[in-house]
Amino acid sequence: MHPDVQEILLTEEQIASRVAELGVQISQDYAGEEVILVSVLNGAMPFTCDLMRKLDGDIVLDSIVASSYGSGTVSSGEVKIKKDMKQDVAGRHVLLVDDVFDTGLTMSLLVNLIKERNAKSVKSCVFLNKPARRTVDYHPDYIGYDIPDAFVIGYGLDYNERYRNLPYVGVIRPEAVK
Ligand code: IMP
Ligand code: MG
Repeated sequence: MHPDVQEILLTEEQIASRVAELGVQISQDYAGEEVILVSVLNGAMPFTCDLMRKLDGDIVLDSIVASSYGSGTVSSGEVKIKKDMKQDVAGRHVLLVDDVFDTGLTMSLLVNLIKERNAKSVKSCVFLNKPARRTVDYHPDYIGYDIPDAFVIGYGLDYNERYRNLPYVGVIRPEAVK
C-alpha cells in the first residue's frame, strides 16, 4: 500500500468485478446502437479503458477535459471546459464517463452541454458516487460504487495530480494533504 494511503476502500478485484457488471448492463441497454463514450479526463482515464473493453457494442471513443476543482480538495463550484470533444454528437447516443460524482456540478453541466448539441440521448456513468455531497438535481444513470464523503485517490483520482496510477481506491492520509 502507498504510504500516503490511510485505508483501501476498493481493491483491484472489487473494481474489476464491478466494471465487468457495468459493462454487461451498458451493453444490454445500448444493444444494436452506436454510442459515443466520452471520457472526462484525466480522472476517468483508467475507468474508461477498463469499461470500454467490457462493452461489446459499436463504441466510438472521445474525451473532454473539464474541471471543477482547483488544485486542492474543495470544489471551486465552477466548471471549465479546457479541451472539447472531437465528435459531432447531433443525432447520436452519448455516454459520459467520469471517475467520481461529488457535488455533481461537472457532470450536470456536461450533460446539458451535450443535450444543447442535439444528441439523440445523453447518459452518464460514474465509477464513484458521494451521495452526501450532492448539490445538483441530477442523478447519474450508471454508478460503480457509492462511497462515504471522504477525499479518495487512486484508479484515476488525484490529489494535486498525483496518485492517479494507484490500482485501488483509497482514502488519503491527512498528513499527505498540504
Ligand atoms: P463535482 O463537479 O463536484 O461532481 O466534481 C467532480 C470532479 O471533482 C471529479 O471528476 C474529480 O476530478 C474531482 N473530485 C471529487 N471528489 C474527489 C475525490 O475524492 N478525490 C479526487 N478527486 C475528486
Ligand atoms: Mg475529474
